[in-house]
Formats: sequence, C-alpha cells, structure tokens
Amino acid sequence: MTTPVLRVSHLRKQFGDFTAVEDVSFSIEPGEILGLLGPNGAGKTTTIHMLLGLITPTAGAIEMFGMELAAHREQILQQVNFSSTYISMPMALTVEENLWVVGRLYGLSDIHRRVDDIVKKLEMEEFRHKVTRKLSSGQMTRLTLAKALLTEPKILFLDEPTASLDPDIAHKIRALLKEERRSVGLSILYTSHNMREMEEMSDRIIFLQRGKIVAEGTARAIIARFGQADLEEVFLKLARER
Ligand SMILES: Nc1ncnc2c1ncn2[C@@H]1O[C@H](COP(=O)(O)OP(=O)(O)OP(=O)(O)O)[C@@H](O)[C@H]1O
Ligand SMILES: [Mg+2]
Repeated sequence: MTTPVLRVSHLRKQFGDFTAVEDVSFSIEPGEILGLLGPNGAGKTTTIHMLLGLITPTAGAIEMFGMELAAHREQILQQVNFSSTYISMPMALTVEENLWVVGRLYGLSDIHRRVDDIVKKLEMEEFRHKVTRKLSSGQMTRLTLAKALLTEPKILFLDEPTASLDPDIAHKIRALLKEERRSVGLSILYTSHNMREMEEMSDRIIFLQRGKIVAEGTARAIIARFGQADLEEVFLKLARER
C-alpha cells in the first residue's frame, strides 16, 4: 500500500466557543483529486488553512508524506502549494515579476524557464507584463494558480480555483489540473460551488456541513445514496436539512 500524501485525523477547530470544524478525518492518495463540498460557512476554508499551517488546530493530527505537519512544517510546506482568492501579492509588481519572486522564495532553479512555461500553459501571455493591481479578477485567479503550479508541488490545495473564470478558461484549467495529475501524480484538494465541476473533477468527494463530514464517496455513490438525480440535488437536499 502507498502512503497517503495527506492524512487528517479527528481534526477540530474552535473559534472561542464556536466549533468551525469538528472531528474531520480523511486522507488523499498520490494522484487523487478530492473535492471538498459544502454550504457557505461549512468549514472548508478553515480546514484548508489548518492544512497549510496558517491556523493551528484545536485538536487532531495532520500528516503529509508520512510526516506530522507540526513537527516537519518547513520540509512539508516546500512540497505543498495553494491558491485562493484571498492571496495577497505585491500589487505594484507585474505578473511575471510576481512569479519570479515566488520562484526565488522557493529556491527554484531555472526560474525564468519555469515562469515562461506556466505563463504559456495558463494562457497568460497577454497580461504577463501588466501590473498586478490592474488585473481583472479572472486574470488574478490565473496568477494565483500559476503561483501554485510554479513550484511543482506534490499536493495542491485549491480554494474555489475557478470561481471567477469564464467557462472557456475554467475548462482549460480543469484540463490542465487533470493533466498535471496524470503526468506527475499531483494530488489535489479543492473546493468549488460548481456542482458540475465537482462531479467532473473529483475522484472522491467529502461533504461538510457545519464542520462535520455528512457524506463521503464518489459523486456517483453519493448521488445514489441520497436517491437524487445529480450532485446539485444532493447539495440542495443536504443544505436545506439544516
Ligand atoms: N477567524 C475566525 N474567527 C471566528 N470564526 C471564524 C473564523 N474563521 C472562520 N470562522 C467561522 O467558521 C465557519 C467556517 O468558515 P469557513 O470559511 O471555513 O467556511 P467555508 O466552508 O469556506 O465557506 P464558504 O463556502 O463561504 O467559503 C464560519 O461560520 C465562519 O464564520
Ligand atoms: Mg471558503
């Protein structure tokens, strides 16, 4: 058996007396795409922030590549990257300058070649010389994805990666992520409120509600279990049962 790239056990996060994440356990295998689904406020972003070491869990364990996050933070985070709409980057730098900075921070070799590569893959040529402050939200999303893929991580945490993308670019991004998974065995944990995308992308889905896992499995298994026509129907059913 292979070691999971990520294993989370009994994870919990409290903010004062409010429990945002409660007793969450799951793992991700190499090359697996796991979709984290749930209504607004379900605890998806909080979970991802704990996995990135941005906030400390109240209880529970996080292991990546067989090592505990708390004890091997630097070594682990070197092989991890993420993208979210809330990332702040130096706004006065151009797109390519920002990517060069990321490359330097991660100590990458061959930075210029890698940046050229990712700019091409994500079709960012048109705005690579633009100042980051002037980007449209879809362009900004692509920049944060480029930043995440640039470091060739083993696991990628994507918080609503396609939220502001037009359908054409969103389609291309999904194809690119699947290709990265196929060619280098990239594992991905991601969130989305687009149910079709969830169905299409995820090998497995975890449905969070008020911080707890209420369903888990392939999209097809979850749909069958709840006796609905598609994932959107399951979502509506679960979300309205609050
Ligand atoms: N720093 C914080 N202090 C207090 N409460 C917080 C904090 N961060 C998050 N929460 C609360 O934890 C709950 C989960 O929030 P989280 O951002 O994880 O939800 P989410 O599933 O990502 O939702 P969305 O789909 O809206 O992005 C929410 O009720 C939120 O208000
Ligand atoms: Mg969120």
